[in-house]
Amino acid sequence: MAVDSSSSTWSQRFEEGLHPAIERFNASIGFDITLLQQDLDGSIAHARMLGSTGVITAEEAEQIVGGLEQVRAEAAAGQFNPGLEDEDVHFAVERRLIALLGPLGKKLHTGRSRNDQVGTDLRLWLRGQIDGIDAAIVRFERALLAQAEAHAEVMIPGYTHLQRAQPIALAHHLLAYVEMAERDRARLRDLRKRVNICPLGAAALAGTPVPIDRRHTAAALGFDDVYANSLDAVSDRDFAVEFSAAASLVMVHLSRLSEEVILWASEEFGFVSLTDRCATGSSLMPQKKNPDVPELVRGKCGRVFGHLQGLLVMIKGLPLAYNKDFQEDKEALFDAVRTTLDCLEAMAILFEEGLSFRPERLEQAVASDFSNATDVADYLVAKGVPFREAYQLVGGLVKGCLQEGILLRQLPLERWQQLHPAFEADIFTAIEPRQVVAARRSEGGTAFAQVRLQLDRAQARLRG
Ligand code: ARG
Repeated sequence: MAVDSSSSTWSQRFEEGLHPAIERFNASIGFDITLLQQDLDGSIAHARMLGSTGVITAEEAEQIVGGLEQVRAEAAAGQFNPGLEDEDVHFAVERRLIALLGPLGKKLHTGRSRNDQVGTDLRLWLRGQIDGIDAAIVRFERALLAQAEAHAEVMIPGYTHLQRAQPIALAHHLLAYVEMAERDRARLRDLRKRVNICPLGAAALAGTPVPIDRRHTAAALGFDDVYANSLDAVSDRDFAVEFSAAASLVMVHLSRLSEEVILWASEEFGFVSLTDRCATGSSLMPQKKNPDVPELVRGKCGRVFGHLQGLLVMIKGLPLAYNKDFQEDKEALFDAVRTTLDCLEAMAILFEEGLSFRPERLEQAVASDFSNATDVADYLVAKGVPFREAYQLVGGLVKGCLQEGILLRQLPLERWQQLHPAFEADIFTAIEPRQVVAARRSEGGTAFAQVRLQLDRAQARLRG
């Protein structure tokens, strides 16, 4: 095909071809070729519908379907390589079809426009990707659950303000991310309903006088419904915004976990060590082992959040109905999907085989701080001392221990009893980290028994 061929793309109204730089500027074929399969599926459904309503004969419809399947086969064999002169995937397919079938190929575009066509392709593509992301989230959840199971008895310091607060079960910490992941799945399931509405048949903007059957194409393509308003059908990109928002939250969750892994892998925390399969070295410092995987996940958030912002800005000033601005939706969505999938996979691998928790370090961490101070106050409360009074007493006690450089468990019983006569020898058990954790039996709390329930529920949920 000649480079300067735009005059043949357009109607006879055009006398001259596009300026080469504008041709390049205008074309989306470089990226919307991603939609090839969906474009073929959509065109096949459209052709069959035209056949069934008598717009073309059944035989013509089947010949067109055959031609489209041939384009699919050529693409699979690497023999379908449209260029800039094809502008976009929709034109590229139609041109090839015409080259294959002659005048019959020219009947395919009856009663449709690239405006409803591109909306259909994009929804079909995104629908499939959402299903892929759901599967990737499930894999990530399984990796977290396996670590939680393997460390059911292990504790880790719990933090607020990144200050040691109270010891918790490590599984409890990991399960918090499983909950986030489940909300992500629920959000994607919900927005998928709005992705799965068919715009085909809206034609350019106003519908068509051609006797089409929108329900026929929608059903053939697995859509749940058709758009009620043709203007809305060709100019709605809410689903792209909703998806990017949901993907942004997936990334937020992965990024928060990444930040924790980065901290945990530091010498200062030392709660995990990274395996060679998921860490990298430094080109200069031979001792280094770097957490590149979680750092990259944290760093890639900017892309996805940026695409959300980009889509919102792209849409907000557009008058009805289709505007070429919409062509910008594709790269944003493609990259948001790719990034989200890549990050989910990388984090799943990180938890499957990229890190190992260091129980001895965790054990030592929870035993060597004042994160059991609340439990001393709770001990007094159980003996009838008002909480605020107990809180003040324990504050003074912690201060004294800090001055002496000792921990609460190192105080002899007499000292406890000087502070308050309610203290008995069982105070030493009450402030052991394992007891501190086990005592938090409130629903959703960190007690091992509660965590067991959470784990069982999470496993059952994934089994479906
Ligand atoms: N490549 C275009 C896009 O991605 C297809 C629709 C073009 N429609 C039009 N009226 N120019 O949005």
